[in-house]
Amino acid sequence: MRGTVTVVVGIQWGDEGKGRVVDVMAAHADIVARFGGGDNAGHTLVVGDRKLALRIVPSGVLVAETELFVGSGTVVSLAGLVKELEALAGLGIDIRRIKISDRAHVVFPYHVEADRKAEAARGSAAIGTTGRGIGPAYVDKAARAGIVFADLLERPRLVEKLRARGAEGCLTEAEELAERLAPHIVDGVAFVQDALTAGKRILAEGAQGTMLDVGFGTYPFVTSSHTIAGAATIGLGIGPTAIGRVVGIAKAYCSRVGAGPFPSELLDETGERLRTAGGEFGTVTGRPRRCGWFDAVAARYAVALNGLDAVALTKLDVLSGLERIGIVTGYRVGGRAAGVAALGEASLSTEIEWHKGWSDDVRGVRRITDLPSAARRYVARLEELLGVPIEHVSVGPERSQLAV
Ligand code: GDP
Ligand code: IMO
Ligand code: MG
Repeated sequence: MRGTVTVVVGIQWGDEGKGRVVDVMAAHADIVARFGGGDNAGHTLVVGDRKLALRIVPSGVLVAETELFVGSGTVVSLAGLVKELEALAGLGIDIRRIKISDRAHVVFPYHVEADRKAEAARGSAAIGTTGRGIGPAYVDKAARAGIVFADLLERPRLVEKLRARGAEGCLTEAEELAERLAPHIVDGVAFVQDALTAGKRILAEGAQGTMLDVGFGTYPFVTSSHTIAGAATIGLGIGPTAIGRVVGIAKAYCSRVGAGPFPSELLDETGERLRTAGGEFGTVTGRPRRCGWFDAVAARYAVALNGLDAVALTKLDVLSGLERIGIVTGYRVGGRAAGVAALGEASLSTEIEWHKGWSDDVRGVRRITDLPSAARRYVARLEELLGVPIEHVSVGPERSQLAV
């Protein structure tokens, strides 16, 4: 029998609106859990006139009864987490519900420094990382030189490990922060397994997007962790059979922040228009996001890699007012049809299918069938290209601006 865990993943290059969809889905979950990434992620929720930009705390935080869990697959900055918890507490949110796995890895200032140095050394081949030390922290994890949250609770072990890293200078601050985080640190395996045994519904919230996955994305222009649905098993400590449903989040167009292949990118005024209308500036770094048409080739690849059951489409409202809307339906290299493996080829070109736009404001629409006919046709065509149902269409950043 299949399990009850629902996994939510981005199926493009990140910033698809995972946070805003998870906020809605959290109403039907007992626990919302992050399984990967760190504060390179920025997940935005808007409820009424309250706006939250979360980095590591799961996006169920505005749903009062949910428990929040930061899983073993994450890499977490102590200062970043403390700051985030304080900000949430300041808003009157009960932060005692937020737990972090003893197996999650700590991102130290030396990781941040290594990230910046590695980027500088890459010169014109820089990845455009978020500069948060994410890559170096995952490198340390794989190199068996990382420090985990459990180590923070054992002073002699922490001292020894920091010394081995030549980073004793980090001790005082780490100890101070660890004291504040101690009440949140739990045995991550027991937490998740007990929850499953108790029949709790876990919603696993992905970070980044499929095309940024370290194994299946546009390597080397990727993040340093797996971002696909399978990563939820490793990042939480659950078997694949615990997963019952996988939902992919896709923007109605595409965006990418940082360097790397992006075949559907629009370098003209239409790209600029999407950026402005969609507020496409990084939540973490403030960098302008590159914008382009929906890439159905990459999206189909993501449907397969994640084993998607359904898709939630976001930011449809941003396309309102465009005379025509493109969908990339094919790649070509040297006159021949090509697939995702060709991403990064300098000569890659795209096949674009054109759709009629709509001028109506769709932000008040709450039923997909009530969308203007051109918008309905656009969504139906995306559904056909993806091969899985589009069950939600978001038409604005606010929680209620969702059509089903
Ligand atoms: P995430 O990283 O996938 O959680 O996405 P981000 O929060 O980084 O980026 C999505 C941005 O789009 C945020 O600023 C959201 O508030 C905003 N957003 C989400 N859904 C919609 C939508 O349907 N319409 C509009 N206009 N904005 C949206
Ligand atoms: P969310 O969860 C968009 C990108 C960076 C860079 C590459 C590597 O909000 O969707 P890193 O700092 O991870 O080593 O950077 O990955 N990147 C993201 N882009 N959304 C994100 O997260 C991202 N997290 C990392 O811009 O290109
Ligand atoms: Mg984001």
